[in-house]
Amino acid sequence: MDLFEYQAKELFVKHGVPSSAGSVAEATADAHAIAEQIGKAVMVKAQVKTGGRGKAGGVKFAKDAAEALTHAENILGLDIKGHIVKKLLVTEAKDIAEEYYISFLLDRANRDYLAMCSVEGGMEIEEVAATKPDRLAKISIDPVAGVDVAKAREIAAAGHLPEEVLDAAAVTIAKLWEVFVEEDALLVEVNPLVRTPDDEILALDGKVTLDDNADFRHPDHAVFEDKEATDPLELKAKENDLNYVKLDGQVGVIGNGAGLVMSTLDVVAYAGELHGGVKPANFLDIGGGASADVMAAGLDVILGDEQVKSVFVNVFGGITSCDAVANGIVGALEKLGGAATKPLVVRLDGNKVDEGREILAQANHPLVTLATSMDEGADKAAELANK
Ligand SMILES: Nc1ncnc2c1ncn2[C@@H]1O[C@H](COP(=O)(O)OP(=O)(O)O)[C@@H](O)[C@H]1O
Ligand SMILES: [Mg+2]
Repeated sequence: MDLFEYQAKELFVKHGVPSSAGSVAEATADAHAIAEQIGKAVMVKAQVKTGGRGKAGGVKFAKDAAEALTHAENILGLDIKGHIVKKLLVTEAKDIAEEYYISFLLDRANRDYLAMCSVEGGMEIEEVAATKPDRLAKISIDPVAGVDVAKAREIAAAGHLPEEVLDAAAVTIAKLWEVFVEEDALLVEVNPLVRTPDDEILALDGKVTLDDNADFRHPDHAVFEDKEATDPLELKAKENDLNYVKLDGQVGVIGNGAGLVMSTLDVVAYAGELHGGVKPANFLDIGGGASADVMAAGLDVILGDEQVKSVFVNVFGGITSCDAVANGIVGALEKLGGAATKPLVVRLDGNKVDEGREILAQANHPLVTLATSMDEGADKAAELANK
């Protein structure tokens, strides 16, 4: 999950990373009130999950509350790269002597963590990497040793930060590593990390991506979820612990195992080319235990998608055998009753396939068509979606 800047800064405060004081506003009057309370010059900052807000006119200096109000009026509702501004961060404006760049991220290719640091902050880091690669230090971090103040100082020096601020920068950078580890982040990026005229080092921007797989360790992260922006079907799926991603097509897809579901998406897209270009409507992996409840929850989510015209259930029986899945489908259809209205194509294979097919044949549900292969099932489902 990507965080808004103001949320990233809440984590910074929690771990003692020096930043600028401020609060979030959703209405212009609130922005005015916060600026008044801060009582000096402020920055009014669009809270959208994309970079380059400054360039897009989403970050403005205000010398007083009246000016903050004017900026708030202009920035709220602004479209920044397709993101509509609904929240503002009103935060103390700091005097800036220099702007630097620091980040920690997961380096999948090298199976460890990476620190990136540069004296050239403020601008987009891709630009620094392209035009002045020697100014951007990339230092791999031993996951076990981590980053203490000494290592942080090394990182800052490698990024060509000036000698006289290395000690202060090292303290801030070590705390950012603490954020990275203790909050289970995949990315902690500060651009700019600024040097003030009296050599303080502050994090004035913050980009944090949290690792959702570690959510169970962080009940306090639940508040960061942007419910408004999450697709309602994805939200419903999440509440039912389903692994669901909404896509743009017409054929609902349910399978067991991420690999099988991924290939089902491909096969459905391919079959769809012969049936008016219909496409998969979603990714849904019901995992190992395809009980009636899980199947019902999955079908319920998919049938709730207005774009869906047909559903392809593609299950390979393993530990959860086909008869259990078939009972799950029958039970789910019973459970959903009148709410189930769209045709279902079911392909079962693997453990106890004959029993599974027999159960579905016996149930003889008017919405269910049995397919004997994945290709046949995809073709049938695409054909039904195109009717
Ligand atoms: N609290 C602040 N005080 C002073 N200047 C700021 C403050 N926050 C941001 N800025 C200035 O605005 C620029 C853009 O803000 P930033 O938060 O980095 O947004 P973005 O990276 O999306 O453009 C920064 O590089 C910095 O120069
Ligand atoms: Mg920035």
